[in-house]
Amino acid sequence: MEILNRAELQQNIIPAIAEAMRPKIYVELGIRTCETFNRVAPFCGRAIGVDRNNCAHCITVHNGEFHHMSTKDFALEWREPIDLLFIDADHHFEAAMWDFETFAQHVVLHGVICVHDTFLGNAASYESTLDSYRVAEAIRTREDLAHFEAVTIPVPPGLTIVRKNLGQQLRAEVANDLRDKGLA
Ligand SMILES: C[S@@+](CC[C@H](N)C(=O)[O-])C[C@H]1O[C@@H](n2cnc3c(N)ncnc32)[C@H](O)[C@@H]1O
Repeated sequence: MEILNRAELQQNIIPAIAEAMRPKIYVELGIRTCETFNRVAPFCGRAIGVDRNNCAHCITVHNGEFHHMSTKDFALEWREPIDLLFIDADHHFEAAMWDFETFAQHVVLHGVICVHDTFLGNAASYESTLDSYRVAEAIRTREDLAHFEAVTIPVPPGLTIVRKNLGQQLRAEVANDLRDKGLA
């Protein structure tokens, strides 16, 4: 695979994940110029883009659906399962964490969530107040998020790839259920 742009790893990695997974539903929060969106969508059943700015004109794929609104407003109306989610809207920690916690609830078991801007590299030269990199830290360390496993590609600005798994408690419940049924 030819790497198109090292600073924009998401434009290479997320389409590759989609090509392998063939998600029924892909949701991208923050699509701006649709660079990533238009590359991922061909591998998906439906591709849903959300942005508070009007990006409808840059969608070039037949299966693209655009929601011109904030992620908070989109959360009020979205009820369907998500197979592949890309979080790339507001890059302040509180906002990006809210997007993660809210939309991860819709993600199916073994569904994948990508979070952009999660690796600082040389922190000393980082002058921005945007701190979405802390989302990756939270996913890895918070006990209530133990049913997510995450790896961050260490190339600034960084992309974290997260898989939703059963989690310890659910795994125990499934094991008990199988035992009760005499299957384990
Ligand atoms: C970094 S750009 C997205 C780039 C795109 N994902 C890509 O890979 O090409 C961030 C976008 O998020 C949008 N955005 C920021 N905060 C938002 C919010 N709270 N709700 C919806 N969209 C938001 C901005 O308008 C901008 O277009």
